[in-house]
Amino acid sequence: MLLTHPDYLTEIQQRVASLSIEEVLFDLSSRYPGRVTFSTSFSFEDQAITHIILSNKLPISIFTLDTGRLFPETYSVWSATNERYNTRVKPYYPDHDLIETFVGTNGPNSFYESVENRKSCCYIRKVEPLKRALNEQAVWITGLRAEHSTSRHEMPQVEWDEGNNVLKYHPILHWSTEEVKEYIRKHNIPYNPLHDKGFVSIGCAPCTRAVRPGEDFRAGRWWWEDTEKKECGLHVHVVD
Ligand code: ADX
Ligand code: SF4
Repeated sequence: MLLTHPDYLTEIQQRVASLSIEEVLFDLSSRYPGRVTFSTSFSFEDQAITHIILSNKLPISIFTLDTGRLFPETYSVWSATNERYNTRVKPYYPDHDLIETFVGTNGPNSFYESVENRKSCCYIRKVEPLKRALNEQAVWITGLRAEHSTSRHEMPQVEWDEGNNVLKYHPILHWSTEEVKEYIRKHNIPYNPLHDKGFVSIGCAPCTRAVRPGEDFRAGRWWWEDTEKKECGLHVHVVD
């Protein structure tokens, strides 16, 4: 099977720096027709990638993990994106038996009570639905950026995701915040207004807050936990 062919991973890793994002996406979607997908949280990084995919009519599906706890602003950007690009971003939801049992047993905000509860909540609301979203896919595109945490500085732009059995490509890994903002402005792309209020990456409402000047970017996530435990399980190699 082409997918696990290590030569292709090595080849694309070597070529990625000399190709444009559009060229890499085209290359991947030609090699794996119908099996390249992009996950969006509607952050401005993800909005830039959505624009690249849809304005170039690339055959890449776009999905979101609707945890049920997103900010109202996130749903507004989702609607605006559907309108602007005449598209329908595909949602994945938590398994209803799992979430009913978990919330029924622990209450709606148990993630504040222990790391174990927080990780279970992230597993049920994000990781399990992600596994379904990536089932049968060959390539997973993300909007990860190196600036967001020190552990992301050393990440390769293309890597093999053992747990999900997919190639993972991070097209704007090395863009700066200013470059992302400039791209959004230039193309008049709908974006989440929370970014203008100090929010860096935007996850679930109860677990995301604005970052103060000088604070680490990851300080806006799960701020009540020790730094080394801040990992939601979507990007398993990343120790945030
Ligand atoms: S996380 O690891 O802290 O949750 P982060 O918010 O930095 O992730 O986002 C990094 C990338 O993960 C995004 O660009 C997007 O590709 C993916 N991602 C994060 N949250 C979601 C979500 N709710 N739905 C779909 N993709 C997501
Ligand atoms: Fe649950 Fe918070 Fe994780 Fe969202 S970020 S899935 S609300 S623990």
